[in-house]
Amino acid sequence: MKPGDRLMRHYLQFKDLRAEEYAYLFDRASIIKRRFKNYEKYQPLTDRTLAMIFEKASTRTRVSFEAGMYQMGGSVVHLTTGDSQLGRAEPIEDSARVISRMVDLVMIRTFEQTKIERFAAHSRVPVINGLTNEYHPCQILADLFTFIEQRGMDRRGAIDMDCLKGRVVAWVGDGNNMANTWLQAAEILGFTVHVSTPSGYEIDPAVAGIRNRDCYKVFKDPKQACAGADLVTTDVWTSMGYEAENEARRTAFADWCVDADMMARAKPDALFMHCLPAHRGEEVAAEVIDGPQSVVWDEAENRMHVQKALMEYLLLGRIG
Ligand code: CP
Ligand code: NVA
Repeated sequence: MKPGDRLMRHYLQFKDLRAEEYAYLFDRASIIKRRFKNYEKYQPLTDRTLAMIFEKASTRTRVSFEAGMYQMGGSVVHLTTGDSQLGRAEPIEDSARVISRMVDLVMIRTFEQTKIERFAAHSRVPVINGLTNEYHPCQILADLFTFIEQRGMDRRGAIDMDCLKGRVVAWVGDGNNMANTWLQAAEILGFTVHVSTPSGYEIDPAVAGIRNRDCYKVFKDPKQACAGADLVTTDVWTSMGYEAENEARRTAFADWCVDADMMARAKPDALFMHCLPAHRGEEVAAEVIDGPQSVVWDEAENRMHVQKALMEYLLLGRIG
């Protein structure tokens, strides 16, 4: 792909794709997952290479992209700040120009969203956001697919996107990259997020990048936010890059632990999700994350299936 190629798409924020593209991706993820479970070889990305650039730590994102790319017949190059010239102040634009001449696709986990935007602006190949301070679109892709599997998929794996419409997702915790991305998803796919954050850690709709403020409601009390929810979800109190605030956050977030009492306010069949890694006894009680309403292990596994669908889409377009 060349710069200016009209077919080249990046995935830097959730809102980079439209609702009907999400319907397509979830459908593909369902097919790709079924093949994986049946040990059926599916290698549409033979000879394609993914570069993965990590400026922050990762377990799920690395394994899901790396295993996913190999399973689809491709290969990966893994770079970190410490073992590349990125850590020695080579301009991000120059790194983009060079790396994108040698690979077919780039995944980046970094700090400011502007960094990934600058990389993408100088890349010859599609760039995927593997987490920035502001957004985590691949995670929400997996979370939505997990919800659909539970509430909107028949036994043959057919997807009903309408299962998302009008639903209530309770976000309990930090107004962070995950929260921002949930808001973008709500705006595009037609559900509402009940947001409860401690004072000082609120959502900023401008940073979240939403136009319609009807897609979320703010609650001071996290229990109120959970009332009637179809899904309750949370995240660490201190995201990567904010470690200096750890002690202040421990105090501020003390009442924002998703426990059995909070889950009892939600619908009886409400699901619990967490992008992981989790801290039991901080943002979530062990009885919730390890309890019957939790789908966190499916959620983690689904990172790989949805990202395989995403990589296939960005590199090959629609199949069939
Ligand atoms: N949820 C998630 O992105 O996990 P990692 O930080 O382990 O990649
Ligand atoms: N909000 C967390 C998500 C980790 C997957 C972070 O940015 O560290």
